[in-house]
Amino acid sequence: MKDLSYIKQHIHIMLTEKRYQHSLGVQKTAVHLATLYDVPVEKARIAGLVHDCAKDLSVDQLLKHAAQFDIIMDDLTKYQPELLHGVVGAVLAKDLFDIEDIEIIDAIRYHTTGRSSMTKLDKIIYLADFIEPSRDFDGVDLLRKAALSDLDKATLLALEHTIRYVMNKGKLLHVDTIHARNSLLLRQDGLEQE
Ligand SMILES: [Fe+2]
Ligand SMILES: [Fe+2]
Repeated sequence: MKDLSYIKQHIHIMLTEKRYQHSLGVQKTAVHLATLYDVPVEKARIAGLVHDCAKDLSVDQLLKHAAQFDIIMDDLTKYQPELLHGVVGAVLAKDLFDIEDIEIIDAIRYHTTGRSSMTKLDKIIYLADFIEPSRDFDGVDLLRKAALSDLDKATLLALEHTIRYVMNKGKLLHVDTIHARNSLLLRQDGLEQE
């Protein structure tokens, strides 16, 4: 893997200043959550910094990368290609920064949708994306508070926030987000093992 300063420098070039600051915020929040929930801090640091590396690519560029890396597009992604930034970000993380760690790659890949049986690192990046210091929306303080005391509960609240938001906008909901919520609810009831 390339060293942190190399990655940071390139992320800065790939993103708008605002998105770069967001990424630094996600990195910081992810590191904090990792220390709280006993997750390797370096994995959280890299995944947080890199998670949105494909977010400022145009739809054309996203589609080009998807073709180049043989990414299979589900129907929903064809309608909403911006959802690709997680998947494309994951392949770019490997391609540009030699990140091989599958947990880091998956946390980047699923940071927009979540997925069934999310790992602790998946949850940390998903949440950090929501609650990093520059985020400001109704309910963010509640989520910030929840994130400090219960990782599963906070992730569930964040997923439900997304689901409500997507529905209010009349947009399509990715099936992985439903799977993520269902799997956390089952886990809460002791019906799913980690
Ligand atoms: Fe993102
Ligand atoms: Fe983000």
